[in-house]
Amino acid sequence: MPDASGKTLVEYLSGNKSPYIIRRDDGLIEEQDTGEYFTEYDQWENCEKEILKYARGRVLDIGDGAGRHALYLQNKGFEVHVIDISPLAVEVMKRRGIKNVYLMDLMKLEFPENYFDSILMMFNNFGLAGTIEGTKKILKVLYKISTDKGRIITTIIDPYKTDNPQHLAYHKRNIKEGRPAGQVKIRIEYKGEIGEWFDLLMISPEELESLLKDTDWSILKIVKENGYYGAVLEKV
Ligand SMILES: C[S@@+](CC[C@H](N)C(=O)[O-])C[C@H]1O[C@@H](n2cnc3c(N)ncnc32)[C@H](O)[C@@H]1O
Repeated sequence: MPDASGKTLVEYLSGNKSPYIIRRDDGLIEEQDTGEYFTEYDQWENCEKEILKYARGRVLDIGDGAGRHALYLQNKGFEVHVIDISPLAVEVMKRRGIKNVYLMDLMKLEFPENYFDSILMMFNNFGLAGTIEGTKKILKVLYKISTDKGRIITTIIDPYKTDNPQHLAYHKRNIKEGRPAGQVKIRIEYKGEIGEWFDLLMISPEELESLLKDTDWSILKIVKENGYYGAVLEKV
């Protein structure tokens, strides 16, 4: 399996700081700075800092790339467990000193019931299941593996906070084809390594509220900031 996103992290750690590419299925190409995954607390958005205050107890961080949030919480004394689907991301997190890191797919979580008090899905990872229905299925599993006081902590790009014509045209096409406006099909490319296409779901705070109506989760806190927002979910 190609591991383009993991390769960017390993190379960044060894001093090669070239950007990587996100290609969308309408041909849009965006260059991204891998350094973002290595940022530290004082470089984070305010909404990120605010919602991390809601972390408590034993924490699961789903898809933490270079492990920035896990490291922050681990250094504060939290028991943090991290999963990532990228073998190279797992290697990077181990090298950076994260104690409990597992190569695991969010879609095949293997943890005991009632285990975690907080579950982090940072930087759009709430949408990794790719669709509304897929996200609802994951929320059921997260309900099982979390305690009664379980919380989900996430940051999401609000897809509607844009006036870029290419994004607006993409939204229009999605809606016409029966998908949420902010569901994107993308792949990561880095120095000849081409990742698999995958769907990522980005939703507004209002869409999040509506999605949660069919689940056992509800919104405890939303912090909005420049087209980005943090959300804390609790069990109903
Ligand atoms: C956008 S990065 C976010 C990294 C981190 N949360 C942060 O804010 O710096 C997404 C991460 O999720 C991982 N990932 C993608 N799909 C996954 C899946 N199905 N299960 C677990 N991890 C996944 C990727 O390998 C990558 O490390």
